[in-house]
Amino acid sequence: EDALQREKPLQGKKVVITGGPTQEAIDPVRYITNHSSGKMGHALAVAAKRLGASVTYIHGPINLPAVYGADDVAITSAQELFTAVKDTYADADFIIMAAAVGDYRCSSIAAEKIKKNDAVLTLELTKNPDILAWLGEHVSAKCVLCGFAMETQDLLAHATDKFKKKHCDLLVANSLKTSGAGFQCDTNIVTIISETQSEELPIMDKSALAYEIWERLIALHHKK
Ligand code: CTP
Ligand code: CA
Repeated sequence: EDALQREKPLQGKKVVITGGPTQEAIDPVRYITNHSSGKMGHALAVAAKRLGASVTYIHGPINLPAVYGADDVAITSAQELFTAVKDTYADADFIIMAAAVGDYRCSSIAAEKIKKNDAVLTLELTKNPDILAWLGEHVSAKCVLCGFAMETQDLLAHATDKFKKKHCDLLVANSLKTSGAGFQCDTNIVTIISETQSEELPIMDKSALAYEIWERLIALHHKK
């Protein structure tokens, strides 16, 4: 970590990092979201700055300090995140999708507060675009693309599937079933998948993990 920081291996590189949850409005007072704290994306953005990169940090609603020196883009919904990514991805050397993107949004957002009436209320949801999969098809040949995966079962099979389908260079898979890992934690236990291998890393704090991820992404960039 210290050696990497002295070397500034990301000097002159443009990095786009997404993090945190998305919120999908139901009506003017309610929304659908998930438990993402945004800590992993934040740690990756802080590390990228320390390693010398020019950083665009796109994030959903989070409760974390600003990343010093980064271009900060706050979004709410998955569609806003997609727009922000489309505005910034084209000349990026690295893109990391650490955001916990809502898979569905409400098919229509009620203009007024929904009043409680019947015993059952049904909401209709529409699938959101898969931003990482879109990036997998649109990024330039020099760009290193990193995805995440959150699984509660069959981690390796599901994560390998996502790695292939979304055309990532690296995929960081989290198991929600292990203690010391996941959304609200300061630590994570991950398996990192690339074309050539899958590595299970020991439990570590998200900042240390951010440098482990950057080390691998930089090596992949050198191979491009
Ligand atoms: N992702 C994305 N756009 C979406 C959903 C997910 O870009 N609409 C990205 C996430 O940022 C993450 C990766 O895809 O980098 C995997 O997210 P995950 O939720 O684990 O996988 P999904 O493909 O959404 O599949 P599922 O939730 O059904 O397991
Ligand atoms: Ca998902």
